[in-house]
Amino acid sequence: MKSELEAPTSTVSGEPIALPGARHWQALRDADGIVWLGLDRADESANSLCAEVLEEFGAALETIAARAPRGLVIHSRKPQGFLVGADIREFEHFADPAAAEREILRVHALFARLETLPFPTVARLHGPCLGGGLELALCCRHRVALEDAETTLGLPEILLGLHPGAGGTVRAIERLGVAAAMDLMLTGRQLDARRAQRLGLVDRVVPARHLDRAARALIMNAPAVRRPPWWNGIAATSVARPLVARLLRAQVAKRARPEHYPAPYALIELWERHGGDRAAMLRAEAASIARLFFTPTSRQLQRLFFLQERLKTFGKTAEMQDAPRVHVIGAGTMGGDIAAWCALRGCRVTLADREAKFVAPAIARAHEAFRRRLRDPYARAAAIDRLVVDLAGDGLERADIVVEAIVEDLAAKRALFAHVNAAARPEALLATNTSSIPLAAIAEELPVPARLVGVHFFNPVDRMQLVEIVTTPQTDPDAATRAAGFVRRIGRLPLPVASAPGFLVNRILAPYLQEAMQLHEEGVPLAAVDRAALAFGMPMGPLELADVVGLDVCLAVGKVLAGASGATVPAVLGRQVAAGRLGRKSGAGFYRYRSGKKLAPREAGDGGLPAADVIDRLVLRLVNEAVACLHERVVADADLLDVGMVFGTGFAPFRGGPIAYARERGSDAARARLVELAGRYGARFEPHPGFESCFS
Ligand code: NAI
Repeated sequence: MKSELEAPTSTVSGEPIALPGARHWQALRDADGIVWLGLDRADESANSLCAEVLEEFGAALETIAARAPRGLVIHSRKPQGFLVGADIREFEHFADPAAAEREILRVHALFARLETLPFPTVARLHGPCLGGGLELALCCRHRVALEDAETTLGLPEILLGLHPGAGGTVRAIERLGVAAAMDLMLTGRQLDARRAQRLGLVDRVVPARHLDRAARALIMNAPAVRRPPWWNGIAATSVARPLVARLLRAQVAKRARPEHYPAPYALIELWERHGGDRAAMLRAEAASIARLFFTPTSRQLQRLFFLQERLKTFGKTAEMQDAPRVHVIGAGTMGGDIAAWCALRGCRVTLADREAKFVAPAIARAHEAFRRRLRDPYARAAAIDRLVVDLAGDGLERADIVVEAIVEDLAAKRALFAHVNAAARPEALLATNTSSIPLAAIAEELPVPARLVGVHFFNPVDRMQLVEIVTTPQTDPDAATRAAGFVRRIGRLPLPVASAPGFLVNRILAPYLQEAMQLHEEGVPLAAVDRAALAFGMPMGPLELADVVGLDVCLAVGKVLAGASGATVPAVLGRQVAAGRLGRKSGAGFYRYRSGKKLAPREAGDGGLPAADVIDRLVLRLVNEAVACLHERVVADADLLDVGMVFGTGFAPFRGGPIAYARERGSDAARARLVELAGRYGARFEPHPGFESCFS
């Protein structure tokens, strides 16, 4: 709990100002004649901008303006933070782009009113100040922010396939200059308060006990408004804008194609065409975002945003200590990185393995990760302290959570859990990171098999957000909830799945990777296979992905799945592994690598197969397997399957996941194409019997 002194909300007192009918806002006038207008959105844990909040805000501004105060401070009455942005649930209500534009222009008028109030205005910020929240704050003359880890500022609209729409494109550029503002808007990245101050986004950064005083001082002293450096004026001239815009487009093109992600290109065009004319750019901003709302990309990204929120609700009811004790057994690729991640996220971690030599590389990797991610030396030292090498296994007796990540061998795992079960506290959560062994087989010899849960992380642990929570019908539901709670506690997204071979994500990915290998065997060049997947929108080609995962791992998963389904594993995979070509880690796999970097392959051309055929062979096998998983209830519904594939594998986010993709394409058309491919290439393309019911 934070002490009174550290509470981030305002403690200013004064005479209340009546705001008739207001449910979300409160205002008071202090002894200096400054009005403090506080937002506490009713019935919600976080402040966001919905129509009602905005309407009340407009009325409040008029009431306050009529009293001609010394100044106005806008703040949040929620300890959680200032404003997380627009309430995107309301976006769905727009009937068409014209209706959306009308609504947006109303917000523009309201924010312009705030911007032109005839007295000083200050936004007093703590916690998240994002999207529309930052756009509102940018209308104030000054901003003061709390110096703590939770205070973040950003314009993340681009992550929803949009760009700022409440005047933010104009005001961010005015405040920061083109380069910094475009970087902020095109990446959607969030800044901590200090960085925001360095860029010129906030004027003062202070500890909680000084926030009110700093806000008041900005009103009383009215310092000059900061402007970006003079050379920004040059970048904004009509001669320079097309050149700068071309550079920006080239940067964006490295990450996103215009046909997949139109929003960054729309933003650049907006500035290129109207950057010299404030009023025109504001009008064009509204029209542009109204159009973007209705793009399939934005619709899918918004849907995924809600689904991500849905994943966050799993495990919400689990009670979790502030700093749980996690005991990780096995300090290899996965165990070492899981331990480091848990320590980074505040858990007290003990890491066990058979000998010191197996742990040393994990600790070296962990220290490197802490150095990269934690710039504050105290925070870094604290993370290092939280990760303790524990060869004797002393941490086991005290652990709240035990995570097993030893070699993928049933007998070894069973023997280990017999020991863990005897030594750990009865209430400790027992988890295995197995990627292919049925949970029931590992749990079989435990006195209480219901206790064991699968907590399946993906590699690399620090980048992959999804963690599968694997259960059987026998698993104690409470243990599953606690496992999901643990995954949330370390900032990851839990996805409940059944303990079927390959679980969900690997199972769906396997046919896609195997088809890529098959295509390569048939003479389609590596680069042509991978290029087709990139053109579809995957973040990486399947053959390169197989190299990154490790061909030995692919082979092991392939065998498990083949054993379960009777399918075959491509012969090339076995040959590569037998030859010691294990992928990137061994310097060669499908591609060759030097110092971890992929070398350009020798073959060129497309191997005579049209790219559309390559894509369909890859993606429709994946879709077909997704249908099979839904049919077998490996996952509860299509939405969870889609979000799992996006966050577990990077499946083209703008397409919304495999099932959303098949829906968009037309499930009948997808099915017919599978039938056609089955005729040409064999039974592996036969549409799954569940195809029709899955889409009905
Ligand atoms: P690894 O071979 O890199 O590491 C295994 C570690 O466990 C080694 O350091 C070994 O010394 C240690 N170990 C073996 N027996 C032990 C015992 N009885 N007590 C203590 N330590 C013991 O393996 P990796 O890749 O980290 O995999 C670990 C587990 O995670 C496996 O179950 C694997 O299926 C799963 N997994 C692997 C992924 C990957 O991409 N490598 C992805 C997701 C899950």
